[in-house]
Amino acid sequence: MIKIVDSVVAIDGFSSCGKSTLAKELAKELGYRFIDSGAMYRACTLYFLDNGVDINDIDAVTAALNFIHIEFQNIHGYNATILNGKNITSEIKSLRVANQVSEVATIKVVREQMVKLQQDMGKQKRIVMDGRDIGSVVFPKAQHKFFIIADVDIRVQRRHNELTTKGKTVSVQDVKKNLEHRDHIDSTRKESPLTRTPSHILIDNSYLTRGEQLMVALKHIKAKDRTLVA
Ligand code: DC
Repeated sequence: MIKIVDSVVAIDGFSSCGKSTLAKELAKELGYRFIDSGAMYRACTLYFLDNGVDINDIDAVTAALNFIHIEFQNIHGYNATILNGKNITSEIKSLRVANQVSEVATIKVVREQMVKLQQDMGKQKRIVMDGRDIGSVVFPKAQHKFFIIADVDIRVQRRHNELTTKGKTVSVQDVKKNLEHRDHIDSTRKESPLTRTPSHILIDNSYLTRGEQLMVALKHIKAKDRTLVA
């Protein structure tokens, strides 16, 4: 039997590329905690919206950060995002939050606070975290780093299916426009843009099933762990 070393697994990639699906499944397989770092930026966005915090006013944003407490709790088997004691898991998926979060995620003080929190969560290792800067900034020394990509039209189709399954009426063109806009902000912003480091393992899941994607990642983890325990 292969010994799995206690590690941090970092998973980065563009929106709707399947990285959180992989992160959740890997966490389950390895018995690790799954942390959705995007949910933390979404939680900050929700707080700013609900409390009328002007995101262009850095002093107001900095002051508001003192009142933001984010944690994750396992509620009936799913990973709930808790903001100041309230379960906001569904609320942070709303369009209201989605439309603002990319801007919020460009704010330096917000990123500094979230990164610190994420690093604290990873102190005990045994964690799978997905996001944009996990392998480059949050855990540059993570034992395992994956960078997930998929063809843009396939990502658009997946996102469109996800929205229509939830009963939302939206055109494929609008989904594509929104996705490309978010890709642009995420990869060109000044603070911690989405970056693939030389130590990220690239997985293109355009034509992989979920199960195949999981197998590919597990194969890499086991192969690397063999060298770590050797
Ligand atoms: O993965 P997501 O769509 O929930 O992320 C929401 C936003 O937060 C998205 O604009 C990218 C940003 N984000 C980030 O800048 N850094 C992270 N580690 C995770 C998400």
